[in-house]
Amino acid sequence: MTRFLSGVQPSGRPHLGNYLGAIQQHVALQKDGTAYYFIADYHALTTVQNAETLREHVRDLACTYLALGLDPKRSVFWRQSDVPEVTELTWLLSTVIGMGLLERGHSYKDKVAKGLTPNAGLFLYPVLMAADILAYDADYVPVGKDQVQHVEFAQDMAGAFNALYGDVFKRPEWKLSESPRVVGLDGEKMSKSYGNDLWVFEEGKALKKRVGKIPTDSRAPEDPKDPDGMLIFDWLEMLCPKDEYEDLCRRARAGGEGGPGYGELKKRVIEGMDTMFGDARAEYHRLRADTGYVDSVLAQGASRAREHASAVRDRAYAACGLR
Ligand code: TRP
Repeated sequence: MTRFLSGVQPSGRPHLGNYLGAIQQHVALQKDGTAYYFIADYHALTTVQNAETLREHVRDLACTYLALGLDPKRSVFWRQSDVPEVTELTWLLSTVIGMGLLERGHSYKDKVAKGLTPNAGLFLYPVLMAADILAYDADYVPVGKDQVQHVEFAQDMAGAFNALYGDVFKRPEWKLSESPRVVGLDGEKMSKSYGNDLWVFEEGKALKKRVGKIPTDSRAPEDPKDPDGMLIFDWLEMLCPKDEYEDLCRRARAGGEGGPGYGELKKRVIEGMDTMFGDARAEYHRLRADTGYVDSVLAQGASRAREHASAVRDRAYAACGLR
């Protein structure tokens, strides 16, 4: 059975871009193999440095994945820090990768270029990530473009370790998630750091207020409009069924009596969110209240994951002379 493995950083409430770019594919892959997914809380510590915030983000992410279709009977789902063996492997791997290679990491360089003062953890981030991947003998790592280089680093580390000590680690392959460019409420790429994101489970008044931020102009419903290049139509395309979207475009182009007003268009965006996420949203709120259940899912996942990682750790320790 093919094993897919991916980690997700608990960095705040997942937005529509996170869903369409990653979560949706993670959930879908569960039927093509064995999925191993974890909440990357060790990684998060490189940037989230407040205990309450980190706990809240971890819990929120766990409930979000479960509500959106992660099936704990079928997949292994755990919290990274419940498997401390990955930190032991991180050390071993750090001794077979050159500083120079890590210095060329895009993600690291980007963060430094943005003015972040890097801690050593941020520099070693790809090594911990390689340990995550290699600890479970993953076949494929589904990731977005920005993480491909990190998986290549993991391939390098596996190769370097194996060359020194024999066949210990399985070489992982990356699998690119098809991430559509999800536009934010202002037309830029959707991103939490731009403040233009929409939480997947936003609802009611708050949802209406967020959608209200999509800029429109002062044209009347009967004025003909070209949907191309209008942000509100990008949103409709993401959220409405195709035939409904095409019908709205046709009516907008024609204008006149049947021309849709911006109020109607925004209402359709809201309905699209309700249709796409309404059931999952109810499940999310149920799970948020059921701490015992969520904890037990993560604990069970951790014990399965740990069994695997400790066997790989033993293999690696024996190979390099630590045992
Ligand atoms: N670095 C990944 C991200 O930010 C998260 C991650 C941590 C990960 N460990 C991983 C992804 C292992 C895939 C495999 O998206």
